[in-house]
Amino acid sequence: MNLRAAESAPASLLVELDSIVERLVLAQVFPKPQPLEVELGCGDASFLAEYARQNPGRNFIGVERLLGRIQKLDRKGRRAGLANLRGVRIESSYFLQYLLPPNAAAALHIYFPDPWPKKKHRRHRLINENFPGLARAALVPGGVVFLRTDDPDYFGQMTEVFGASRVFQKIETPGELAEVLTDFERDFNAQGIPTLRAAFQLNR
Ligand SMILES: C[S@@+](CC[C@H](N)C(=O)[O-])C[C@H]1O[C@@H](n2cnc3c(N)ncnc32)[C@H](O)[C@@H]1O
Repeated sequence: MNLRAAESAPASLLVELDSIVERLVLAQVFPKPQPLEVELGCGDASFLAEYARQNPGRNFIGVERLLGRIQKLDRKGRRAGLANLRGVRIESSYFLQYLLPPNAAAALHIYFPDPWPKKKHRRHRLINENFPGLARAALVPGGVVFLRTDDPDYFGQMTEVFGASRVFQKIETPGELAEVLTDFERDFNAQGIPTLRAAFQLNR
């Protein structure tokens, strides 16, 4: 891991992984130990940079596989002087399973994950029957998974897999969180395409 990322004004907010088989040491990633929230598939961090700015008492990691997009997280975060934001360029499930320390996140945000609309491609969806188990291992007790999508079929799958889990309860998304829109959400709103949201809390 790049220790520069632990300084309060690092040259880059992107965490350089020395190893992809050792978990992150969060104390080396952020200057302050604070509750952690993770966005999976953060795109260009339009949501996360703003949400991190509004919540300086929490730390945030954006996970994104595309270099051009995660570089925008870096630029936005540094321009805003955010000490509580970092990005990791990697696949989301891998990050949850192998890089995030267990029981480390107070929240997981997954907004407009690729819907894979064709039936034969649905096995590629991030939120599938295995996901509640991954989320359970990643979250602290009482931690929350926040979901948004424009795809009604995927939304059905999301509510079904979390509904089948005995350790998650459906809750309302707090209004102040719902007000922070993602780039894709803004585009859908502009086109008049309805979007859906849900939140599931891990038992305490
Ligand atoms: C539809 S975009 C949504 C971006 C952002 N959440 C928003 O709402 O504006 C989905 C993003 O997830 C990323 N992505 C898709 N699958 C991923 C995966 N398995 N791991 C990491 N990133 C992924 C894509 O590269 C893309 O940036």
